[in-house]
Amino acid sequence: MPPDILLDVVGLHASYGATPVLQDVDLRIGRGEIVALIGRNGVGKTTMMRCLIGLLRATRGSIRYRGADITRMAADDRARQGIGYIPQGRDVFPRMTVEENLLVGQSAGGGGPGGRRDLIYGYFPILKERRRQMAGTLSGGQQQQLAIGRALIGGPDLILLDEPSEGVQPNIVQLIVRVLRSIRHDIGTTILFVEQNLDTILTLAERCYVMEKGQVVAQIPMGEVSQESVRQHLLL
Ligand SMILES: Nc1ncnc2c1ncn2[C@@H]1O[C@H](COP(=O)(O)OP(=O)(O)O)[C@@H](O)[C@H]1O
Ligand SMILES: [Mg+2]
Repeated sequence: MPPDILLDVVGLHASYGATPVLQDVDLRIGRGEIVALIGRNGVGKTTMMRCLIGLLRATRGSIRYRGADITRMAADDRARQGIGYIPQGRDVFPRMTVEENLLVGQSAGGGGPGGRRDLIYGYFPILKERRRQMAGTLSGGQQQQLAIGRALIGGPDLILLDEPSEGVQPNIVQLIVRVLRSIRHDIGTTILFVEQNLDTILTLAERCYVMEKGQVVAQIPMGEVSQESVRQHLLL
């Protein structure tokens, strides 16, 4: 495998009990890329993310990360290996403050230098302003910034981001997109994100995988991500 491939998924299958969901999914992401996983509701995008972070075990196939097979590795070990996960619906700890949420992220990512908190506050100044506030009292957009900050503070090489625009007002979505692009530019973080919002896909994705019924049915290559190509695949 060439050294610039960060994540290499081959023939992945996963199911909930006896119900198969993912079927023979292949996906390959190069270091520093920003790639979208798109598709309509219920096609298996979240299931794919859960499999990649290790919350759901693959029944067949393999996941290689930085060249090593992580298919059977536990989720917390994957986090320590540098994979950050921001679940759909964000899941911040509502009864902890903003700062406490960030501290949890820091230890989950394997410790890392304490100065990272200032880095996160630099990207998302509202989090610094609200650092002593309970996370559950933040707006949807603020919680999304916190969830991203909580993943980033562990210093991940790869972040898995599930529907960042969901329940977030458009100007904050734009802010989040700008920050994600800066993070990739400044730190080189690779980003795989799930999204159904056309504008977010168009402004963030360099390339897309298209899912239908648990399978990757198409790809939109670099340079071809456009309103027409994305609409055609999402049937908007
Ligand atoms: N915890 C679960 N148990 C059983 N079935 C599930 C569970 N989560 C999702 N599913 C089913 O798996 C399929 C894929 O769901 P999901 O990955 O959440 O899709 P998407 O994120 O693309 O909307 C759907 O048919 C959904 O109903
Ligand atoms: Mg989903």
